[in-house]
Amino acid sequence: MARKIVVTSALPYANGPIHIGHLVEYLQTDIWVRFQKLMGNECLYFCADDTHGTPIMISARNEGVTPEELIERVHGEHYDDFVRFGIEFDNYYSTHSEENKQFSELIYNRAVENDSIAKKTIEQAYCDKCKMFLPDRFIRGTCPRCKAEDQYGDSCDACGGTHQPTELINPACANCRTEPIRKKSEHYFFKLADYEDRLKELIEGGYTQTSVLNKLDEWFKTGLRDWDISRDGPYFGFKIPGEEDKFFYVWLDAPIGYMASCKNYCDKNGLNFDTLWNSDEYELYHFIGKDIMYFHALFWPAMLMSAKFKTANKLFVHGFLTVNGQKMSKSKGTFVKASTYLNHLDPEYLRYYYASKLTASIEDIDMNLDDFLLKINSDLVGKLANLASRSAPMLNKKLDGMLGTLDDGGKELIGKLTAAKDGIVKDFEELNYAAAIRTIAGLADESNRYFDGKQPWVTIKTDADGTRATLTAVINAVKILTIYLKAVLPVYAGKIETFLNVESLGFEDVENVLENHKINKFVRLVERVEKEKVNAMTDESKEESPQQQAEPTVTLDEPLEPECTIEDVMKVDLRVAKVVLAEPVEGANKLLHLELDIGGIRKNVFAGISKAYKPEDLIGKHMICVANLKPRKMKFGVSEGMILAAGPGGKDIFVLGVDDGATPGQRVH
Ligand code: MSP
Ligand code: ZN
Repeated sequence: MARKIVVTSALPYANGPIHIGHLVEYLQTDIWVRFQKLMGNECLYFCADDTHGTPIMISARNEGVTPEELIERVHGEHYDDFVRFGIEFDNYYSTHSEENKQFSELIYNRAVENDSIAKKTIEQAYCDKCKMFLPDRFIRGTCPRCKAEDQYGDSCDACGGTHQPTELINPACANCRTEPIRKKSEHYFFKLADYEDRLKELIEGGYTQTSVLNKLDEWFKTGLRDWDISRDGPYFGFKIPGEEDKFFYVWLDAPIGYMASCKNYCDKNGLNFDTLWNSDEYELYHFIGKDIMYFHALFWPAMLMSAKFKTANKLFVHGFLTVNGQKMSKSKGTFVKASTYLNHLDPEYLRYYYASKLTASIEDIDMNLDDFLLKINSDLVGKLANLASRSAPMLNKKLDGMLGTLDDGGKELIGKLTAAKDGIVKDFEELNYAAAIRTIAGLADESNRYFDGKQPWVTIKTDADGTRATLTAVINAVKILTIYLKAVLPVYAGKIETFLNVESLGFEDVENVLENHKINKFVRLVERVEKEKVNAMTDESKEESPQQQAEPTVTLDEPLEPECTIEDVMKVDLRVAKVVLAEPVEGANKLLHLELDIGGIRKNVFAGISKAYKPEDLIGKHMICVANLKPRKMKFGVSEGMILAAGPGGKDIFVLGVDDGATPGQRVH
């Protein structure tokens, strides 16, 4: 009987692009979901953007947009990337949704009812200027260990050490560089320890791979601590019921987003959510990376238990992507965004390559770029596509595209390929894609050897029927291998179905031999990968890096000033000014003394632009001046106005220049 299955992948954060590291997970999941469908099972794949939390709030602020605008834009970008990689969600939703709010409140309220929530006052870092509590990542300072400057509150990029934000030397708010103070506030905690026995039972029952049991054991041994599920405003998230300025911590509502995505799908399709999500009729699986295991193996099931929802049948945990044996790196050009990859390479290459590396273990998987090139060209192009491209065109050109029947040799070959089905199915089911791919590539080798041994390009001259029998066997081999590969290479498989002139293939078609059947014109299947394209991809990834690397999440040095109205702006009287005199100011580091003519009125101005401009280059130039600025006494004299210039500072300051034909004193807007 067909199985019914619900599957989720972890929800990507809405403050950054999808990269090839993420794709390990979404491709691993997508291949599994497609495999289940090809087996004739019902399998629904739900995901969403993870939209809440401080980093997203700050990113939006830095971009000058609302968090809602930011997450909507990113949702579109993420979804496009996924579609282009052939990742087929049944629903790709958002945690910033009504369904998610309701489920979050429901689960929280049930936790309150069964006494799983405690209130405690805690002390945390607080920025008095930004008026917000600072998560560890938003505190910067000098590493207590290696003394590298500008490191995060929780870890140091330079020496790799971890520390407490309180240990940082010269700690500062990442946003405004003010030194944080300590401030108390009341938080809500989920009493995780109350669930210890039930969690142990769950895990002993096979909730995770055995390879992660050690890690879990360690956590149980250290003891399960209460989990802080609230954050003080300002925070982008859902308000805690009954509170004015406290919100659910993003990690509370994030996994609930799985349910929200499922619910939204059910409502749109007239299906019963309780049946899909919460009954034995459907199996439930979560795919995640090893970095978020604590949340999915402990917090999430405990929340579900508390709220009386079922827990997943299994958590599938994968390792991290490394490129050329190292962590993805922006400076090496190996931090490749999904969209950058797509500018240069076919997405199916990556699907095939990852499949050839993925196992059920939580070991990291390495993408060696030379190996990538080699594997695609030798396996995918040289073995698999080659088998089709040397047999189908010959059948079309010389034998009217008509398949005959299998002879004894053909039956033997096809028998072998068919017999491999159970093993391949088992490998896909158990996430041993690498083993499946090895078997499939081996069968392609065998089929190519069969072709070579039969020498159809020779026999075609004398023995049409014998040659037809050979090609019939080879084309049937192509068909079977295509079914085996279809979950990995949907586009490639689609092309083969077209020229084989068959309906969409599934695993039940493995045993149906194609005989006396007319095939269509051959279509090119897949191009070789060129080294230049791989290089171009890493080059493009490098080019983007400097600015991204400087500040991963925080780019605003200072928070925005309070709003001003258009009326406020109109008070500023801007005039064209001609520089009559420009000279250095003795003893001042950055100042130039300017004398400006603004239509008969002379103004003395001190401007901090001496690093960027030489006085002699300014004389006679026209610029814009704030003419009604209240005179201000400075160390070197009275400044009676201000010229418009902007820039990060030092040499990078740019005076707003005006065409020399402009009349001094002319008002500008
Ligand atoms: N938003 C959380 C997940 C919430 S799930 C309720 C999150 N987002 S993430 O964008 O950082 O990561 C999404 C998934 O991609 C995670 O499972 C993570 O492990 C995986 N990966 C992110 N970078 C990865 C690699 N470099 N390699 C492999 N998987 C990686 O965590
Ligand atoms: Zn601040």
